[in-house]
Amino acid sequence: MTDQLNIALLGSKFMGRAHSNAWLNAAKFFDVSPAPVLHTVAARNAAQLEEFARNWGWQSSTTDWHAAATDEDIGLVDIVTPNHLHAEQAIAALEAGKHVACEKPLAGTLADANEMAAAAAKAEGQTFVWFNYRRVPAIALAHQLVSSGALGRIYHVRAAYLQGWGGPDAPLVWRFQGDIAGSGAHGDLNAHIIDAVRFVTGEEIVRVDGAIEHTFIEERTVVEGDAGGEIAGSGAEAGERTAKSTVDDAVLFLGRMSGGGLASFEATRLATGYHNANRFEIHGENGALRFDFERMNELGFYDFGSDAAVQGWTTIDVTKAGAGHPYLEAWWPDSHGLGYENTFVNQAADILSVVGGGQPRVPLPDFADAVKTQRVLHAALESARNQAPVDIAGV
Ligand SMILES: NC(=O)c1ccc[n+]([C@@H]2O[C@H](COP(=O)([O-])OP(=O)(O)OC[C@H]3O[C@@H](n4cnc5c(N)ncnc54)[C@H](O)[C@@H]3O)[C@@H](O)[C@H]2O)c1
Repeated sequence: MTDQLNIALLGSKFMGRAHSNAWLNAAKFFDVSPAPVLHTVAARNAAQLEEFARNWGWQSSTTDWHAAATDEDIGLVDIVTPNHLHAEQAIAALEAGKHVACEKPLAGTLADANEMAAAAAKAEGQTFVWFNYRRVPAIALAHQLVSSGALGRIYHVRAAYLQGWGGPDAPLVWRFQGDIAGSGAHGDLNAHIIDAVRFVTGEEIVRVDGAIEHTFIEERTVVEGDAGGEIAGSGAEAGERTAKSTVDDAVLFLGRMSGGGLASFEATRLATGYHNANRFEIHGENGALRFDFERMNELGFYDFGSDAAVQGWTTIDVTKAGAGHPYLEAWWPDSHGLGYENTFVNQAADILSVVGGGQPRVPLPDFADAVKTQRVLHAALESARNQAPVDIAGV
């Protein structure tokens, strides 16, 4: 009989749906052991929660996250709550001997992230962080190409995560509250591209050489009653009152890579015209790569080694199982494109492989790894606030 892993999910909105779908489908598309069991979901609104549990097939639901996270029947606790809750929930679960999979950013603050990494280092359970974009097949392929030397020495990295939903009409959901989120576009979006750059290049960001942080919309409408969920609080009722937004709307910074290359990062929720443009371009001595999540099934590759007469950007259609494109063997025939949800199923399958003693298809970040991303986030804000460079080694 296949081993089973009972999951407790903490949180039930945007990521609650993405992760429920992932646990529900991982064993249907991948050959995994242990098989995940959707055991318990915990969140605050009891009435909505019952409906959520019924819809996604969770066996039970509770408004007591602590009871769920420490229940003796649970093997893995999956955290999809706002950032200020990650540390308390993850540490409680680790102390109860569970495996923990936590959404990004690891935490709202570096202090919380450090406590989580310290708890993970002492714990029996394994830890995972949902930097799910590593499991976009095109990004996983970019990682494999760079690891195999296709780019050689890296000169430039240009990463941007551009969203446009954060204008004056977006209400004061938790993403605009510094005590809950930690930071705004920075922790939300720069966290993803810092992780993607570290993953694809195999290098660390060793220094922040300058940064700008800005809040364009200083007051937002306070949400009355249930704040809904999803990115801009869908279903949230905005009242008459306004209050201060206490996070950045945009953060841009420059960095130096451990291999000597130069990098730029830009995260904003006010890039009108873009919705989820999570992009990077990497230029190396032997070639270059470019990616944009708004065209997630494509990877751009430029090979300097090819015949100069036909040299140019190649658009690789990353959906060919026969070509060995990462994760495609589990999905559809060639050119039957994948979507956002597949990246979570891919990650759930890799988490199950690792819990079962196997290997992930491409490296999975744990708490110790995600703290490295959190240190860069912290250094960029420090650099913006003090208008001075910050060496990551000193953070
Ligand atoms: N990997 C990704 O692509 C991605 C995308 C979006 C969000 N995230 C991360 O996932 C986490 C959750 O974000 P989301 O978009 O699902 O948020 P959401 O607002 O849609 O849902 C948050 C959930 O947490 C619960 N919750 C909210 N405040 C709470 C509180 N004070 N106490 C207890 N429970 C509370 C809510 O009831 C809800 O179930 C965040 O850390 C976010 O950064 C990751």
